[in-house]
Amino acid sequence: MKLQGKVAVVTGAGSGMGKAIATLYAQEGAKVVAADMNQAALDAVVAEIKAAGGEATAIVVNVSKNEEVVNMVDTAVKTYGSIDVLVNNAGIMDNFMPVADVKDDLWDRVLGVNLNGVFYGSRAALKYMVEQDSGVIINNASVGGLFGARGGAAYIASKHGVIGLTKNIASTYGREGKIRANAIAPGGVNTNISSTITEPSALGFAAIRDTGPSRMADPMEIARVALFLASDDASFVNGVTVPVDGGWTAR
Ligand SMILES: NC(=O)c1ccc[n+]([C@@H]2O[C@H](COP(=O)([O-])OP(=O)(O)OC[C@H]3O[C@@H](n4cnc5c(N)ncnc54)[C@H](O)[C@@H]3O)[C@@H](O)[C@H]2O)c1
Repeated sequence: MKLQGKVAVVTGAGSGMGKAIATLYAQEGAKVVAADMNQAALDAVVAEIKAAGGEATAIVVNVSKNEEVVNMVDTAVKTYGSIDVLVNNAGIMDNFMPVADVKDDLWDRVLGVNLNGVFYGSRAALKYMVEQDSGVIINNASVGGLFGARGGAAYIASKHGVIGLTKNIASTYGREGKIRANAIAPGGVNTNISSTITEPSALGFAAIRDTGPSRMADPMEIARVALFLASDDASFVNGVTVPVDGGWTAR
């Protein structure tokens, strides 16, 4: 058991990688606060975790709303006594829209969830982590946080922002090594996010296709890296972004 007794909050836990991370953390002994805006999906995940003998609580949250994120973190601490791990995982895509075609509402929505959500979560969790002098933040970025042609303009900007924010948290709060912040940069992963690509920009999509993506991953292949980063096995790993992409960024 790598996370015995730890309290872990996972956003976007109703589906895909968030679901895999919440499930794996619970298997490894964590008390999981599973957060998502989709209540039905969330309830199903929490029921599955409990049926397998794990401990989990569901919280409905829109991570782009600061007050809801503060409530999520406060509820975790009230329910289980602390927050040891925060996985800022919830995120949305942008139909690969190139800059000239990005409408303000798309930009605001994508940045609101993918970057503001990570900021709100980190700020709320650090309030407790600084006080308890320990804690781990894991941000699910993307290979789109490392390269230009892995999403549309808003998605790429948001994921580069997430990686910058991760480094800032790590270098500011991790100087003694007791608070750690790292990011994961998945390549293509088989999740429900593809169903949100409703009207892909031909121009934006062509740029991605030309980079030649690797095979699609199973969400659990990313969750296992999130488990390592949350655990004491990663006690000296701070401020890095781990590509989990089957070699896509190696090309
Ligand atoms: N799937 C991929 O290929 C891929 C690749 C790289 C990075 N990512 C990133 O991984 C993360 C997880 O994505 P996934 O592929 O598992 O997607 P998914 O769509 O399967 O799951 C995302 C979950 O987040 C929830 N969510 C969306 N907006 C939210 C909000 N505002 N507040 C709370 N919950 C919200 C959704 O309800 C959903 O349950 C995202 O940040 C995504 O950008 C995905």
